[in-house]
Amino acid sequence: MLSRLPSQLLALVLTLCLAFHANAQGAAPNQPVSFIHDIAPLFKENCFGCHGAKNPKGKLDMTKIETLRKGGTKEDPIVDGKPDESHLIDVLKATDASRMPPRETGAPLAAAKIALVERWIAEGAKVDQGVDAKADLMKELRKRWSPPSLLNQYAFPVSVTALAFTVDGKQLVTSGHHELCVWEVETGKLVKRVAIRSRRAMALVFLPDGKLVMAGGRPGEEGDVSVYDLSAPAAKQENGVAVLNGVSDPKVLVKRLLEADDEVECLSLSPDGKKLAAGGCDRLIQVWDISGGIAQAKLTDTIENHADWVFAVAFFPDNNRLASASRDKTAKVWDLKAKESIATFPEHQNPVFGVAVKADGSACYSVGDDKQVRSWNLTGDQGAKQVLAMGGAGGSVLKLVQHGKEPWLFSAGADMKIRQHDRDKGNQIRELAGHKDYVLSLALNPTGEVLASGGWDGEIRLWNAKDGKLIRLFNASPGLKVSAPAAKP
Ligand code: HEC
Repeated sequence: MLSRLPSQLLALVLTLCLAFHANAQGAAPNQPVSFIHDIAPLFKENCFGCHGAKNPKGKLDMTKIETLRKGGTKEDPIVDGKPDESHLIDVLKATDASRMPPRETGAPLAAAKIALVERWIAEGAKVDQGVDAKADLMKELRKRWSPPSLLNQYAFPVSVTALAFTVDGKQLVTSGHHELCVWEVETGKLVKRVAIRSRRAMALVFLPDGKLVMAGGRPGEEGDVSVYDLSAPAAKQENGVAVLNGVSDPKVLVKRLLEADDEVECLSLSPDGKKLAAGGCDRLIQVWDISGGIAQAKLTDTIENHADWVFAVAFFPDNNRLASASRDKTAKVWDLKAKESIATFPEHQNPVFGVAVKADGSACYSVGDDKQVRSWNLTGDQGAKQVLAMGGAGGSVLKLVQHGKEPWLFSAGADMKIRQHDRDKGNQIRELAGHKDYVLSLALNPTGEVLASGGWDGEIRLWNAKDGKLIRLFNASPGLKVSAPAAKP
């Protein structure tokens, strides 16, 4: 999404270290090659992007053993026991245009990886017991993956990609590395850690009953929408901090609403509390009816209205229309009753990261890579017409929140500042400066008095929403040893 250094690099290094640690790959020389542990991950990483279940290239769907062995436009690309006669090996080793992955997408597979596939075929192209030929391999791989245990002390700051105040406003939940952290607003003290499967939370929304809905995932690997009960008993206490197991304790992880093949980016709860919407990297927006409680949640709509990742969703006050923002450079409005798209707002002409709807439904607001906050209404040709453009930002605007009572919008992003705008007049009321890195997340407390912002460098700042004064700041990386800027890896 964004190209920058160095904290992104640090995050990457951290991730890679953990990935290697969690998932030591490559079959031992004296052991037969395992399809599900050695070959399927390699296919997933290098082939599934084009040979997925939807519109596979060459008509070859590699995500199931059955469809892989059926072949695409040609026959079965594998001859058991005979790598030299297998088309699959031909394309991996080819030096002409038939090479896979295709030349224009980069380097060929490493020789050691090709050798591993050859060895698997030479050994009979066997599939591990318990893996059905019809099974979705993405799901099979997810089943076999488990998150790393919580880091006692973060070596590098964690990016704060999501924030939410508890219903009583006394605590703030932040996204950590495979965890959610709960901080006391009054003191900035860490009081609770909840281990989760997702590498990072991208959106957090509290339900009126106090349960927390999280959307997140591991980019390019998996995504989920999960519901946690933060009041459930702790698995243990560590340095006076309660540690909850949100990975496998059903008292903590009370519901998994969605499992996806890529990260889920956003959530919105309808004003009447009866519907929940989520959107993500699979371009889809899913809507659940939660009027009977979250345990009885029913998926009612799967909306395919965007051509690229969905970064934000927001319900209209009528609970029946849904605004969304996408990497496809548009914001859109979907009518849940008519089941159709009713407006497309194209003015950003760049990825759109955030969207909000005015409390009376008369206007929408969106922010994007074009450094603008734009307000628009549901008139005009494509059903959406710009009313105001609010400039002033020095970089991509990544987040937008609307005040519940005052006519204020808060926007923030790559220029490390938060801007408070008058949503009706379009003027900037003030700038909240102090962050030393991208601002990735924003949240208002339930009374609208406190604004929280989270940065790429793990810094949390709490501001008085009325006058923009800083109330408190702390780093959301538990036990962080190195303070930002972190040491070079
Ligand atoms: C960037 C997209 C892309 C990636 C990544 C990719 N492929 Fe392909 N693949 C194609 C296209 C396009 C075709 C069709 C080529 C043609 O018909 O000339 C194809 C065709 C094939 C075929 C022939 C299928 C048939 O029956 O016609 C095989 C086998 C194959 N790919 C294997 C792989 C493997 C194995 C990988 C991963 C190591 C891979 N591909 C990665 C785009 C891709």
